[in-house]
Amino acid sequence: MVKVAVLGAAGGIGQPLSLLLKMNPYVSQLALYDIRLAPGVATDLSHVNTNARCRGYSKDELNAAVSGAKLVVIPAGVPRKPGMTRDELFRVNAGIVAQLVTAVAQNAPQARILIISNPVNSTVPVAVETLRALGALSPGKVMGVTTLDVVRAQTFLSESLGAANYARDGMRRHVTVVGGHSGKTIVPLVLNNTYRARLIAADAKAAKRGGKAANGYAAFVHRVQFGGDEVVEAKQGAGSATLSMALAGYRFAEQVLKSIHSEATEGPVPCFVHLPSIAGGSELQERLAALSGRESRSIEYFAAPVRLEHGEAKHVECAWLDAVHKEEQALLVTAIADLEANVVKGKRFVQSKM
Ligand code: NAD
Ligand code: LMR
Repeated sequence: MVKVAVLGAAGGIGQPLSLLLKMNPYVSQLALYDIRLAPGVATDLSHVNTNARCRGYSKDELNAAVSGAKLVVIPAGVPRKPGMTRDELFRVNAGIVAQLVTAVAQNAPQARILIISNPVNSTVPVAVETLRALGALSPGKVMGVTTLDVVRAQTFLSESLGAANYARDGMRRHVTVVGGHSGKTIVPLVLNNTYRARLIAADAKAAKRGGKAANGYAAFVHRVQFGGDEVVEAKQGAGSATLSMALAGYRFAEQVLKSIHSEATEGPVPCFVHLPSIAGGSELQERLAALSGRESRSIEYFAAPVRLEHGEAKHVECAWLDAVHKEEQALLVTAIADLEANVVKGKRFVQSKM
């Protein structure tokens, strides 16, 4: 049985994510930490008749909250408002992630750490470099959560194909997402050749008429890459995706919990990892370098399907690269260039504090 800590538990993501974790049979203790309101959220959740014991921890109780946790999920930090980029959150959220991860290193060195706080492309490097500086970096224990991109890709592919005929929940085998979690670093891969051809044909047909296809490949890719903006704009300043993110974060955490218990996961799960730390990582660096013409060591972090073992990222898959089409190759080249700057920003932040 496992103690799970949610840091940022009273927030828009933290609350529904904590509810979902409260329902998970593997969770025996649920520690909810926030700088505000966590005890109230924990009292509310503690009335749910599932086995996990729920406790809230306030601002000065961070060490106790994470102590002994095997899994720590971090959605703490500020969300975007309309017109902002995720990168603009870095100034505030990098410091929050560094502080929380430091407490994890000191009180729960065995914990797997799932980072949700944006910009993920930079906050994951902040977490990894902070742990390295503390001498507490364990390969594969830090994973950036990119599951929402996969959830969106499945929904949007189904809609592009005609949702009446192509159920959203049937899309799992047909699309995945690699790269990073921001704009053009998000690279959807349509694994089903027939579906991809159909979307591309819709673009060609519309172009002949001098227009753009709402259900074509270009629109699909754009929607996956900028789906977050759609929610930020619709919420009109009240935040970004919370409910879909809670579900996505839970789905990823559920796989990690299964893996901690040596139960089979649903197969390799995409997440954003430090490639040199895990098996297969250097091969992926080499192959992405060959594809993009960049140096392999500059491709240090990437979201790709990862095999979990004992709840840790054990092996990053490269086989998906064999099936990448020319449209997707072009998307990957752009993503790799953008990612490098995001990663450098995270690393420099930690170096500047030393
Ligand atoms: P929110 O403002 O509703 O909640 C954030 C919570 O973090 C608040 O309760 C706040 O009190 C808490 N917090 C702030 N500083 C803290 C600290 N030092 N320690 C502990 N808790 C702290 O925001 P939200 O909508 O839940 O979003 C949280 C983060 O998740 C944002 O950075 C957002 O951009 C990101 N996000 C990521 C994804 C993804 O796919 N990875 C998706 C959606 C949102
Ligand atoms: C998302 O993709 O919805 C999140 O990263 C939140 C955001 O700022 O868009």
